[in-house]
Amino acid sequence: MKIGIIGTGAIGGTIAKKMVASGHNVKVNNSKQGEKLNARALELGASPATIENVVKDVDVIILSVPTVAIPTLPKDLFAKVPENVIVVDTSNYYPFRDADIDEIKNGKVESVWVSEQLGRPVIKAFNNLLAETLENGGKKTATENRIAMAVAGDDEEAKKVITGLINDAGFDAVDSGNLSESWRHQPGTPAYCTELNAEELKQALSDGIKEKAPSLRDKAIAALSSLPSYPSHPDIVKYNRRLFQKNSNT
Ligand SMILES: NC(=O)c1ccc[n+]([C@@H]2O[C@H](COP(=O)([O-])OP(=O)(O)OC[C@H]3O[C@@H](n4cnc5c(N)ncnc54)[C@H](OP(=O)(O)O)[C@@H]3O)[C@@H](O)[C@H]2O)c1
Repeated sequence: MKIGIIGTGAIGGTIAKKMVASGHNVKVNNSKQGEKLNARALELGASPATIENVVKDVDVIILSVPTVAIPTLPKDLFAKVPENVIVVDTSNYYPFRDADIDEIKNGKVESVWVSEQLGRPVIKAFNNLLAETLENGGKKTATENRIAMAVAGDDEEAKKVITGLINDAGFDAVDSGNLSESWRHQPGTPAYCTELNAEELKQALSDGIKEKAPSLRDKAIAALSSLPSYPSHPDIVKYNRRLFQKNSNT
């Protein structure tokens, strides 16, 4: 499959490496040009591309930039991208990082907002696992207790394709419904960065409470950043699980 990835940070870069390792043809773009972009692409085993070219002649475009960067993308970026090209949004909104986005703060589902900014449908995926989980937590298909990732969107066929890429990355995929339901795996929900298997994730997706998610998101960030040193990955996952007593593996 031909994949264009915008953003080569913790998530976009890891997805790029995993997709290359699975035999996909990957090109990448980030906020840099020239040698710096070339070096990052080389490191990932992908090809460097300008922002205009990263969306050309691909089957899937993965957008993996901070939410606040989305409106800064060229306005006509998707104008010539055929409708059957799938656009994936990995973003999570954090007010401390992304500044105020009033519509999201007032309850608009994050990826619905992203879709409106881009002027085309998106699939939300690769957002509910920490970068370290994505990098190191993958397992072969059908391994017991394989970690699962949520995938939301309004196009069933597109979700099937992305489910395949999630499997290539080493994770089970759980369909979380239409894009309007994707709040169920936004920050502050039991499905978010809790490393659950597929059955547990289905339950967590149904247990989430939309109105409580922003305050739990902010509580988690405040608690983790008030620790004397940056918590280990297992401690972050443990903390996230404990925010929601119904999760099993606590
Ligand atoms: N980190 C996690 O554990 C995690 C987990 C799930 C989802 N997410 C979400 O996924 C998204 C990416 O997260 P991340 O952790 O990978 O962020 P990151 O490490 O900060 O990387 C962000 C990437 O976006 C690129 N970028 C920023 N503005 C751009 C623009 N206008 N055009 C092109 N590229 C641009 C940056 O370019 P440069 O490299 O040139 O700076 C960088 O490569 C965020 O919305 C985040 O909330 C993160």
